[in-house]
Amino acid sequence: MEYREILNEIKPDKDEKIKLNKITSKIINSINQICIEEGLNARAEAVGSVAKETCLRGKSDIDIFIVYPLHTPLEVLKEKGLEIGYKISEKYNGVANEHYASHPYLTSLIEGYNIDFVPCYNIKDASEMESAVDRTILHTKYIKSHLKKEQIDEVLLLKRFMDCVGVYGSEFKVGGFAGYLCEILILKYGNFENLCLEVSNWKYRTVIDLEEYGTSELFDEPLIAIDPTDKNRNVAAALRKDKMEEFIFACRNFLDSENKLDYFYPVKKGNLSKNDINEKFNELGDKTYIIEFNIPDVPSDTLHPQLKKTEESLKEKIVEEDFDVFKSGYWTNEKDKGILIYQMNVSKLNNIKVHYGPKIWAKQACTNFKNANGNKCYVLNEFLVVDKKREFINVTELIENIFTPENIFKIKIGKNLKKIALNTFNIYLIENYLKTLKKEDLEEFLDFLDDFLNPGQHTRR
Ligand code: UTP
Ligand code: MN
Repeated sequence: MEYREILNEIKPDKDEKIKLNKITSKIINSINQICIEEGLNARAEAVGSVAKETCLRGKSDIDIFIVYPLHTPLEVLKEKGLEIGYKISEKYNGVANEHYASHPYLTSLIEGYNIDFVPCYNIKDASEMESAVDRTILHTKYIKSHLKKEQIDEVLLLKRFMDCVGVYGSEFKVGGFAGYLCEILILKYGNFENLCLEVSNWKYRTVIDLEEYGTSELFDEPLIAIDPTDKNRNVAAALRKDKMEEFIFACRNFLDSENKLDYFYPVKKGNLSKNDINEKFNELGDKTYIIEFNIPDVPSDTLHPQLKKTEESLKEKIVEEDFDVFKSGYWTNEKDKGILIYQMNVSKLNNIKVHYGPKIWAKQACTNFKNANGNKCYVLNEFLVVDKKREFINVTELIENIFTPENIFKIKIGKNLKKIALNTFNIYLIENYLKTLKKEDLEEFLDFLDDFLNPGQHTRR
């Protein structure tokens, strides 16, 4: 197939390349200058997709690592890393933000580019590794020396394809493929089209072992891509099973499609209005509830897993109480609000529930059960049972009961969420919730609901 048209759009053009190189070397020089002035035995190095020339146009962050000699005290690394980041950010009028990976690092928005300043150790081999980010230097070297010039375009096509089918990015919010993993996949399969063919036949626990280390037994994730620079590391460790499955499905759809180019553009969404959304939810018959609370000030990769865990745990509890959830999810604007959404299949129950006792064959146990529950017990399918009045008839009563200090222990709620959720919790019907949102949040939320109502829409065209 002819990919020229797409490549013209996604490859950084000459101007952007010049701009990228200029700002990158400017910052590297400034960091090195600071290191000399302060007598620090460290130097700056460009890593990541900019250094590997595998960044998409207008999308790339610039990853700059501040490399210290091995055995420099970790405290120096941490402190100086942030300090240098702040100095550079100030010098170039950037907007700085602290983050946390294996140690704290700074990002700054400078001249429209997101620049990462990450301190690390200078290692020659993974066995010398002192912090997890140290590998990145090795990754950059490996890709630069192994990826052929013509394969750069193949990586770009793959990243763009993955982005448009919703599986690009190793952050928890996506749970998909990291940039480095894309590069490894192209090294393995040669080019994008062949990769799609191969992926369409992937089995659970596919192994990719470029350097033939033979260490796949160490890992039990759904995709095992052994890091060519570290035999003890699975590059696909953060890839969630559902994202791997979606990617396989998207590749099959792509191969079967008559409109292959469409896969390199974001899916056309419905642009659903508030009314459309309400209609779609009501079409299904039962109610949809939103539980909203404020969120704590924690990194995105901490917040998302906690929201997901809470959503799943509450769903289990709801089902355990005989209600039925058709579909659930979570969303956050990552600023101040988090929500859980439950599209119900059964949101209202009758007044009575059957309370199970022992099997009829166990005489003594039955006597005890009868003594405890009165003489209205009866036999049902081998068990002695009794009808009891239900505590919760409507699912909202159950949820309101759980979100109280006495009962919150009944669900597994994220540890940073517990206090703030208890204090700020509110429950709404979806149609009422939509009315509370301001324009900016509403747009983002309607977009989320569009995906919620149309599962897998990114994987088809
Ligand atoms: P990035 O996420 O910035 O990846 O991490 P990238 O290769 O530069 O790709 P894009 O274009 O920005 O999306 C920078 C480096 O950190 C390491 C890799 O070496 C990567 O090149 N890394 C990052 C991992 O090994 N695993 C991850 O999950 C994330
Ligand atoms: Mn990057």
